[in-house]
Amino acid sequence: MTHEKRGSFGSRLGIILATAGSAVGLGNIWRFPYMTGQNGGAIFILVYLLCVLFLGLPCMLNEFIIGRHAQTNTARAYGIISGRKAWKLVGYLGVLTGFMIASYYAVVSGWCLQYIVASGIGELKGDSAYVQQYFTSFISHPIKPVFWTVFILFLSHLIIMRGIQNGVEKASKLMMPTLFILLVILVVVACLLPNAWRGIAFMFHPDFSKLSGDVLLSAMGQAFYSLSIGMGCLCTYASYFSKQTNLVKSAVQVSVIDTFVAILAGLIIFPTAFSVGVNPDSGPSLIFITLPNVFNEAFRQVPIVGYLVGVAFYVLLSVAALTSLISIHEVSTAFVHEEFKINRKTASRWVTLICAFIGVFCSLSMTGWESLQIGGKSLFDWFDFITSNILLPTGGLLTSVLVGWVLPKTLIRSEYTNNGTLRATSFAWYWACVKFVCPVCIALIFLHQLGIL
Ligand code: PHE
Repeated sequence: MTHEKRGSFGSRLGIILATAGSAVGLGNIWRFPYMTGQNGGAIFILVYLLCVLFLGLPCMLNEFIIGRHAQTNTARAYGIISGRKAWKLVGYLGVLTGFMIASYYAVVSGWCLQYIVASGIGELKGDSAYVQQYFTSFISHPIKPVFWTVFILFLSHLIIMRGIQNGVEKASKLMMPTLFILLVILVVVACLLPNAWRGIAFMFHPDFSKLSGDVLLSAMGQAFYSLSIGMGCLCTYASYFSKQTNLVKSAVQVSVIDTFVAILAGLIIFPTAFSVGVNPDSGPSLIFITLPNVFNEAFRQVPIVGYLVGVAFYVLLSVAALTSLISIHEVSTAFVHEEFKINRKTASRWVTLICAFIGVFCSLSMTGWESLQIGGKSLFDWFDFITSNILLPTGGLLTSVLVGWVLPKTLIRSEYTNNGTLRATSFAWYWACVKFVCPVCIALIFLHQLGIL
């Protein structure tokens, strides 16, 4: 048994920045813009905001309540709060989901690092065929992406190893303000481009004829992903909150920051894309293939600005990815540390090693290596598919059922109000969402993602 004292966040600001750091990630800067581009622009954003309010926020609160109540890793927290072994399995599911996401998320985060270097040394200059070719040959290269995957996992290891206050909190306090500053600069530059208003209109002028079941379900899925719900991150971080932390206020602040960053990312990408006449509906390759071209094109007159914007954009992306990666790294580290009773440093080392091992294979599966393809999909695609389409909604659904239908309402209410010391004006709204809206909507996402609906 180790006798290390359990860590905790040192300040409210630290809590907000670290949790927002987990939420703000590739989901905001990479996934949100391409989903918006593919799902009709403003109408998607409108539905997304509703999803954050009625699904995301209550589910975030669920995880905060479970984590802060139990003050332990996700797996044990579910067991403690429910008092039953069966529910502990849901906690294990969260840890497993987090672990699988960490492995493939590290691969994409590594790509971002390569793109900082590539745009820094001017390797991304060329016509669109060249940029496309660059991306394809990079991700299928047997060494480069593998190197970056291991490198970013190592960075996250260095932070996690130092513990909560000295590692996660300090790093978030440094990285999150950097991220906000870069975001604002890039938004201003993008919105000053000729014809930028077309991109702005695309984001804020809804076309209701584009509303469809697909738009609705994609927006729900995006809200979960972006707020880091169902992967153990929120529950683990909340286990380091103090008993005085106002959970509702924190959840609202984190959701607002996360949504704000997503919108700002859109305000970089759409005005730039529209200013050179590119339709931003290219899907996942948007930021690695379409954008470098768009930057080249948009700043042809002042190449130095184009150069700086390119580099700054990939730095922004990497910072966002790293703060999310550490949160998901922490899920497994806390689990291994507490469940196997080994010290934090060793636990973190094991998690890094195993994630790197799996991440390397995820990365290599993009080279077309036969034995890493299963049923026509690469290992990387399988990890992405299984986690986002199956494990996340399952975890979210079971957690809502646990909180809304199994646990005593008095217990939830008491965590919600810090034992009655805070006002509970929003409790009725939260309770209705958790009991009815969340389970029904998540079940719908689930069926949709499995192609049943
Ligand atoms: N919310 C994160 C994002 O938007 C999702 C995530 C969190 C993914 C932590 C991995 C690790 O990118």
